[in-house]
Parts: sequence; C-alpha cells; structure tokens
Amino acid sequence: MLKTCQTTTVTAKQSDLTKLTADVLVLGLFKNTTAVPKSLAPLDRLTKGAITQLLKLGDFTGDANQISMLYAQANTAAQRLMLVGLGDKKAFKLDTLRQAAGAATRAADNIGLKHIALALHKTLTSPPDPQRVGQALAEGAIVGRYTYNDFLTQQNQNNRSPKTCRITLVDDDPATTRALRKGAALGTVLAQAQNLARHLGDTPANEIYPAVLARHAQAAARSAGLTCKVYDDKELARRNMNAILAVGSGSARKPRLIEITYTPAKEKKSPRTNNAPDVVLVGKAVTFDSGGLCIKPSASMDNMKYDKCGGCDVIAIMTACAQLKLPQRVVGLIPAVENLPSATCFRPGDIIRTYSGKTIEISNTDAEGRVILADALAYAATLKPKAILDIATLTGACVIALGQHNAGLFSNNDSLRHAIQNASQNAAEPVWHLPMGDLYLQQMKTKAADLKTTGGREGASCTAAAFLGQFVNQMPWAHIDVAAMADTTKELPYRTAGATGFGVRLILEYLLNL
Ligand code: BES
Ligand code: ZN
Ligand code: ZN
Repeated sequence: MLKTCQTTTVTAKQSDLTKLTADVLVLGLFKNTTAVPKSLAPLDRLTKGAITQLLKLGDFTGDANQISMLYAQANTAAQRLMLVGLGDKKAFKLDTLRQAAGAATRAADNIGLKHIALALHKTLTSPPDPQRVGQALAEGAIVGRYTYNDFLTQQNQNNRSPKTCRITLVDDDPATTRALRKGAALGTVLAQAQNLARHLGDTPANEIYPAVLARHAQAAARSAGLTCKVYDDKELARRNMNAILAVGSGSARKPRLIEITYTPAKEKKSPRTNNAPDVVLVGKAVTFDSGGLCIKPSASMDNMKYDKCGGCDVIAIMTACAQLKLPQRVVGLIPAVENLPSATCFRPGDIIRTYSGKTIEISNTDAEGRVILADALAYAATLKPKAILDIATLTGACVIALGQHNAGLFSNNDSLRHAIQNASQNAAEPVWHLPMGDLYLQQMKTKAADLKTTGGREGASCTAAAFLGQFVNQMPWAHIDVAAMADTTKELPYRTAGATGFGVRLILEYLLNL
C-alpha cells in the first residue's frame, strides 16, 4: 500500500489559551481589526501587548491566510504565537477556518514545528456549530500538510517538515471541547481519504497503471476491512465489457475493473433479503490519457496522469466508508485503463458492442472516459442501487465552461442532485448544475450504431453527460465532471499544487447525510 508521507493527529483539549504547552499557538484575526478581540486579551496582556503592537504597526492586515509570527511570549505556555488572517468578516464561512488551519500547518511545517495548538475559532463572536468547526479545522490541517515527495531524494526534501505532527484544538469550555474532538475525529477520516486520493493521483503513470492501481485498491480495501474484486482483461472479455477492453487495447498495460464493496457490520451478521447496494460510486481511472490515435498535443498531455483522479477518489471514499462505519451499503467501481496509440489500439470508426448491449461508434479516441464509464455504469445499474454517482475528469469543455472554480454536476434526478448540492456546500467543494437531455443526445446520432461517442464542440460537457445517461437504465444517477478540479498548478497558502482530491469530501458528506 502507499505509505502516507505525513502523519497528522488531531485532538481537542480543554485549556486556557495562555496555559497550553505547544510549539505554537495559532490564532485568527479578521481584516481591519483595530483592537485586540476580547478572547485574546489575556494573551495580549501576558505578552506585554505584542498583539496590540502588531495591529498598531499595520504589518498584519488580516487578509485571508496571511501569517505573522510573534515571539515575545516568555509568559505563555506556547513557545510562539501565530496569527492567521481570516479575511473579511462578512465573507466568513466554515471554509475560512479550514483554509486558515491549512495555511497555519503549512507555515509550521516549513520551520519544523511538531506540536501545533489551534484556537482559530476563538476570535469569532458567533461561532458555528463546534463539531463542524472541529471537523473543518482537522480537515484544513491534514490536507494542508500533504506534499508529494515519493521521488525526492533526501537533499531535495523539506527536511524541516516533521514526519509526524500533533495538532490540538483548544477551547476553555468542556462541552465545546468535546464537540471539537468529535468533529476532529470525523474530519481526520475525511481529510486522510482526500490525501490518499491525492497521493494516488500524484503518482506518475509509469508507476501506476491499471494493474498497480488495482493492487493499491486491494491493499487499501484489505486494511479497511472491505471486499475488493479485480476483473482482469480475460474476465472483462468473459463479461462482455468490450468498451473497457477497447480503450485499453492500445497499451501493454492491460485494463482492470475494480469493484470494492462496503457492507455495514450489522448486515454482515443479519443480511437483508434485498442485498442491493444503497449507492454505487463509479470513478474514471485512465492512468494516462494520451488521446490514443487522436493524439493530444504535447501541452495538453502534460498532466494526463491526473486522468485517473475520479477512480482514486472512489478508492479513497470506500476506505472512509468503512472507517466511518456508515449504515449504507456502498459499492465502488473503478474502470482502469491506459489510453495509448499502438498497433493494437482502438480507432475512430470502430463500433463496439458495450456491456449494456448498446452499440457505440467511436468518433474520437480521446473521448475515452465516457466509453469505459459506459460499461461501468451499465454494470452499476445491474446492481439496482438507489443511486449511482460517477466522478470523472471527463471533458476539456467543462474546464472552459466553469474554470477552476466549480465541477460540473449533471443528474437525471432532482432529489439526488439537491442532496449533492447540499453536500457540496458543507464540503466547500463547489459544483454547478448543467443541463443534458434529449437535444444533446441528438448530437450523437449516427447511422452505423446506436450512438456515436461525441457530439461536436458545442456543449461538449453536456453531450458527454447525455451519452453517459444512456447507460444507467433510468436509475437515479448523477455525474460530476472534475476535469478542471482534480489537479492544479496553483500553489496556495493552504494547499500544495498537484492532485486536489476534489470530490472525496463532497461525496462523503453526501453519504453521511443519507
Ligand atoms: N481526459 C480528458 C478530459 C480533460 C481535459 C481532463 C483537460 C482534464 C483536462 C478527456 O478524455 C478528453 O480528452 N476529452 C476530450 C473529448 C473530445 C475529444 C470530444 C475533450 O474534452 O477535449
Ligand atoms: Zn481523452
Ligand atoms: Zn480522459
């Protein structure tokens, strides 16, 4: 299994802010704060007005995620004070705390601090539900500490960044502390899942190809107590999963379909008569997308190791389902292929009889995601779940339509869509509802097969979604296009560049709310 690069433990402790021993005590301040907030006054007094002085000098503006370190506190138990900007007070959201926690742990990592006390919420005059606060702080801290350094030799690693780091959420009220602790436990599971998805996503295509991804899935499943079946190319052929096979036919690394099942402990003891899953999650895992014969220009191929991120998300979400002991049955399906041109690859014009029985004409070998999802979704539908959810880096058009700020959300079922939109708010992983339907479907008419795989440049994310919709057998289904969200080249104060794990917390919030 992939070894986690960084271990972060988050707990909560009831304590006076001035009395908690730690390498650093982290506090938040809004923009345009002129006077030291009441809750920080004792600290200011003990440090002989260090916070007052900082505000007076104007060095610290309180802009979101801005950081200032204070060292003059011989009288406080913490060795340093770190002030983190919380931005505009009117714009405050739970995600403000999540980001601030990430910015703080990243800054602390840079100077090698091993024990961080977080009291970012103490400045708020009307703090949100403390359990949610604990969750957001833990998520921000753990996601913030992630870096991908599997291939950095010693000299190029940030040697100061400690392997293990202890984080304590501090509050002086016992009930609040208990709630923070409970939230932190939940946030830890979600954030660790997000980091697992990122770690798999960041691992390059020479290291992770379909068979290897399947091994990682099996290892992750085994340690979480899940069952995991892997169908290799021979088994896929036996099962008529010809669409997955077609896309995988160009690579020497043969395709796999990974099926991970989570059964709640209660049902293991007394199985239901109907053992259909509540939810089936389907994640696109193209371990590398060259475009195939319709080869991508080099610049567009650069980051195509990230074309497996939907599948990585699903593997990580499944492990979290077990850790959270969810009451629902959940199945994760990950079709894994490498899309390469070769003497054996599939071609434009090929017609494939998919697992569902529907025939499809390949119009562009670079539109491979929808092809492998066609088989995986049709298989998902045979399991007769209450809902099918797929997540995929599906279309470049979604990047153009929504930019790096929203994933595309498509659904044939309004209540499922609302549930996902609701979860998206809590997770601060934004999605934007886009249309599909018959008019888009008509763009994929062809004489030679039931439908072709692409519908031209116009509304290309919507036609892709409409194509997928043909394989779910009318079941309630939603599709999340994360092409723009799965990876980023932008380093942020609270998160490093690379795989983002976008969708992991969103889908887990959705499952938790069921
Ligand atoms: N994996 C890509 C989509 C993608 C593009 C993800 C950019 C992340 C960033 C997908 O397989 C693809 O190549 N789609 C084509 C479809 C087209 C040929 C109809 C696209 O969107 O350009
Ligand atoms: Zn492609
Ligand atoms: Zn792709």
